[in-house]
Amino acid sequence: MSKEKRMHYDSDLEVRSDSGTGADFEKIVTRRLSRRNLLAGSFVAVFSASSLGQAIGAVVDKRTIVDGLEFEPLVGIAGKEIRVPKGYEHHIVVGWGGSFDRSVVEVEPHLMSAKDQGRAFGYNNDFVGYLSLPLGTENSSHGLLAVNHEYINPELMFDIGKDVRAVTCEQADVCIEAVGMSVVEVKLIGGKWSIVKGSKFNQRYSGTTDMILSGPAKGNDRMKTGRHKTGTTCTGTFSNCSAGKTPWGTVLSAEENFQSMFGKAAYSDEKEIASAKRYGIESGPSEYGWEAHYSRFDVSHEPNEPNHFGWVVEIDPYDPEWTPRKRTSLGRFRHEAATTHVAKSGHVVMYSGDDSRFEYVYKFVSQDRFDAKNREKNRDLMDEGVLYVAKFNEDGTGEWLPLIFGHGPLTPANGFESQADVVIDARIAGDLLGATKMDRPEDFEVNPINEKVYVACTNNTDRGKDGKEGLNKMNPRNENKHGHIIEIVEGGGNDHTATKFNWDLFLVCGDPDDETTFYAGYPKEQVSPISCPDNICFDRYGNLWIATDGQEKTLKIPDGFFAVPTEGSERGKLRQFMSSVPGSEVCGPDFTPDGTTAFLAIQHPGEGTLFGEWENSWPEPGKVARPCVIAIRAENGSPIGSAEANQIERRKVLGSLFDR
Ligand code: FEO
Ligand code: CA
Ligand code: CA
Ligand code: CA
Repeated sequence: MSKEKRMHYDSDLEVRSDSGTGADFEKIVTRRLSRRNLLAGSFVAVFSASSLGQAIGAVVDKRTIVDGLEFEPLVGIAGKEIRVPKGYEHHIVVGWGGSFDRSVVEVEPHLMSAKDQGRAFGYNNDFVGYLSLPLGTENSSHGLLAVNHEYINPELMFDIGKDVRAVTCEQADVCIEAVGMSVVEVKLIGGKWSIVKGSKFNQRYSGTTDMILSGPAKGNDRMKTGRHKTGTTCTGTFSNCSAGKTPWGTVLSAEENFQSMFGKAAYSDEKEIASAKRYGIESGPSEYGWEAHYSRFDVSHEPNEPNHFGWVVEIDPYDPEWTPRKRTSLGRFRHEAATTHVAKSGHVVMYSGDDSRFEYVYKFVSQDRFDAKNREKNRDLMDEGVLYVAKFNEDGTGEWLPLIFGHGPLTPANGFESQADVVIDARIAGDLLGATKMDRPEDFEVNPINEKVYVACTNNTDRGKDGKEGLNKMNPRNENKHGHIIEIVEGGGNDHTATKFNWDLFLVCGDPDDETTFYAGYPKEQVSPISCPDNICFDRYGNLWIATDGQEKTLKIPDGFFAVPTEGSERGKLRQFMSSVPGSEVCGPDFTPDGTTAFLAIQHPGEGTLFGEWENSWPEPGKVARPCVIAIRAENGSPIGSAEANQIERRKVLGSLFDR
């Protein structure tokens, strides 16, 4: 037994080495591991790493640790660097302009051609999903990263001043190639992740990639355009915000603010006018001005082109040749996420929020069941099933209301001629059904331990303002600038296909000194301030991890990454784990299966400044800012947030004591 591996306990821990495999011991270790001051005080017990390792292993394998988070929380002072707790390090895995191919000589990313951008890592990385290689393994040192590139910041990418519509045609081409998705092969060597250039898996999906339309809108007249005359295919994906990995190893990527790419709407048909209004397709110029260069973004020229966006796109990272499918069964809205979960019955459920103020949350239940032995069949599971929209009641109950053509008000009398109309105008269908208007529902996740469902409502500063709907129990604050997280238990004993549910507030975010905040009842003097929860994920122990988007404005501290137990005595004990750089939001996030690496996306670093204003640029001051994916690891390689990862400092000190 090496001295470095000795573990030490505080004086009130009553354990004996001969109790190392008993149930009581497990309980004690579990309880003690949850204590932040595990190693504080004097040391009376010393025992072997192997007996402790077995004990922890036993507990981990049963997945019973739900409050085992141990790290020194960050205090949110403004910073210009990424900060992580003591005992952890971070490094860049890949950033904007990182070439996928060995043959391409990398240049400063703002000097890249559109052709090279089409084979290089895109801009504004958002969702990050780690998928082990080979498929079907839990390899935590070799895999694929599937990454969304939500949007572009032309004012930071090019020397064009403030007006992002001033891009040249060549610059617009680079932008169109810089959005969409990337898949890159990655390897962990010597504690650092990097991409494998030249890998057959490296793939880009951009604004010009050919895609297939599947599901009820496929072939509908409203999907036919000059280039796609049958309405069964389309060109490109963009506004890819969050996403989800499926149980069959594909990725469902959510198209969010697609409306910002389209301008000059000039519909004469009443139904299309109503639809454009509901989805924010403007008659004026688009946000990015691409219609000056490409007529498909000019809605007066190509009125159905916006109907090709606002969907969930399925890609297969393990099969780069597989043509992406836009799964129209999942509805058209500003999808933030697309989280799948296999229900007890084997049906696959997808959860997604519509990230706008006063919009809805949705779920989809597949018609067929997941078949672990038939990947080919699973890849089409999202084409057939029922889409629902949520109605939350103030008494803590709720209903999933089906969006089915011919049911209730979804009839020709209200402008719906088919299920294609229902999915294309899912927002209007939700209005007619009386769905509940939420405070910008963003990411959804299902807790792997208790199978409860969590949805982050990032904020809604319009609630209760100017005649707009005021607070209710589900959205409990007017002018909600800090957001909240709702916990849902599906009906029938957490049957994810159920049409009824119960819900509760889990977190009401903000400064803990603010009396309107709530941390699942945990004492507020022991938690970190947090605002604008956006992307979320779970670790294997059922702790919720939250990335924020907007607290630089609301709390005057950089966005960050936080962890909070969802069960046990520390439920609600939220602490800040990572702090980001100016102008950025934190996205991703995902863990390797063994929990030893957390991947985060640093999106839009430097936003709020212009090209050339690079004094505080990240990652390299003095150079153009680059959105990048980073990896965070404990210096000793232990799982993120574990007690072992937290003990480095103390263990070093103890080692030197024993070495004397
Ligand atoms: Fe793209 Fe809803 O954040
Ligand atoms: Ca988001
Ligand atoms: Ca997520
Ligand atoms: Ca957001």
